[in-house]
Amino acid sequence: MSIAPPVTSGNPVKAQGRRLVQADVLKADDVVEVDTDEHGTLAVGMVDGVPFATGNVCRHQFAKLGRGQIRDGCLECPWHRARYDVRTGEMVSGPKGKVFGFPPYSKAVQGVANTAAPLRTFPVAVVDGWIALVDEPPGT
Ligand code: FES
Repeated sequence: MSIAPPVTSGNPVKAQGRRLVQADVLKADDVVEVDTDEHGTLAVGMVDGVPFATGNVCRHQFAKLGRGQIRDGCLECPWHRARYDVRTGEMVSGPKGKVFGFPPYSKAVQGVANTAAPLRTFPVAVVDGWIALVDEPPGT
């Protein structure tokens, strides 16, 4: 018997080239899954109205981050609530809960995630009303 929630298939938004999702589809703090030709499925959203795009797979047990939510300015995994900084991909807090929240385990997951397999981030900007992949982060 697995203690992990079942992997559910989402209904990802289909990107149109580098245009990922229309910005007005999202709330100021929101995230969705987006299928792209360039990078596969990404988690794309807004934190405080600022767009982001990251890899879609949690570093703990591979839940789909685009099915998570934004909490306290971080992207939170829908399974065990690990949190990520969407600007850097850093796991800022490890898994939580009675089993996976055991502090030494949670800290170890966080450490491994941030050193061995950090979450990828992708530069995006709002272009013509779309959150779009760009070559350089805005302001660089
Ligand atoms: S799968 Fe994301 S915290 Fe466990």
